[in-house]
Amino acid sequence: MQMLNIVKRIIPSPIKLKIRAYREAKLKEKLFGDYASLVPAVEDMFDGPPSLQHFKSNGESFLEIYQEICGLEQDEVMLDVGSGIGRKTLPLTRYFNDNAIYWGIDLTKVGVDWCSEKITPRFPNFQFQHIDVYNKFYNPLGSHQPEKYRFPFDDETFSFVMLGSVFTHMLPAEVENYLSEIHRVLKQDGRCLITYFLLDEESLALVDAGNSDFDFKYKFDGYRTVSREVPEKVIGLEEDLIWNLYAQLGFEIKRVDYGSWCKRKVYLNYQDMILAYKR
Ligand SMILES: C[S@@+](CC[C@H](N)C(=O)[O-])C[C@H]1O[C@@H](n2cnc3c(N)ncnc32)[C@H](O)[C@@H]1O
Repeated sequence: MQMLNIVKRIIPSPIKLKIRAYREAKLKEKLFGDYASLVPAVEDMFDGPPSLQHFKSNGESFLEIYQEICGLEQDEVMLDVGSGIGRKTLPLTRYFNDNAIYWGIDLTKVGVDWCSEKITPRFPNFQFQHIDVYNKFYNPLGSHQPEKYRFPFDDETFSFVMLGSVFTHMLPAEVENYLSEIHRVLKQDGRCLITYFLLDEESLALVDAGNSDFDFKYKFDGYRTVSREVPEKVIGLEEDLIWNLYAQLGFEIKRVDYGSWCKRKVYLNYQDMILAYKR
């Protein structure tokens, strides 16, 4: 053991990097088979816990949620707002047939560029677009204001809209505009699945007791955040505010599944999720 540690210490850094890259490539092949080239390097996974295993399990568990909770068919027209670097996109490339259309939009250009360069050439019905919207955490030089931004799609284009861990980085006025845009681009009876950190009586009690993964200690009108300087780092939104917005915009909430982020005893996934229909 001691000998091994000595050997490790004397190996030059460039060789250590090569060994790490080789190991990562091997693990990618093992986990993703012929999809390995569509999976980014662990160090480029800016949009969630950076590991190959998590990338795989997160994508697969959401495909299950799409099918079982949202009734996702194989020929949907889907919009993924905040598609990141493709974590939740990849399993969909196996599930969707050629009649399906998938659009991913995101304000982090590296993620959009990766997906456009790797996924679109192999699956041309998967398209990605960079939107230069401001977010103090993800895109501090963005030129469009999120509380006014119009999505680059016609009215009633999509049958399914998804936002995974996006409203966990947006302020209430921005969320209001995005919800209204989601309503606009959804077809009648289309649905949206959106994840949140919802602040209700139960989660607030757990947050205040210090149990939650996030110390939402800065309190503002309608939301709480972990950082006064960069509120968008992680945001919890008051549940009443969200329910009122859905009602005002003409959404029918079909189900709410609470998450384990605040250490609830009963939960479905990590974040809270709302499935709603445009009526
Ligand atoms: C935590 S990551 C989640 C990525 C992906 N949805 C997933 O679940 O793996 C949040 C993503 O939302 C994007 N994002 C944040 N604010 C956004 C906004 N106003 N419009 C579009 N994307 C946004 C970020 O760039 C980032 O890719």
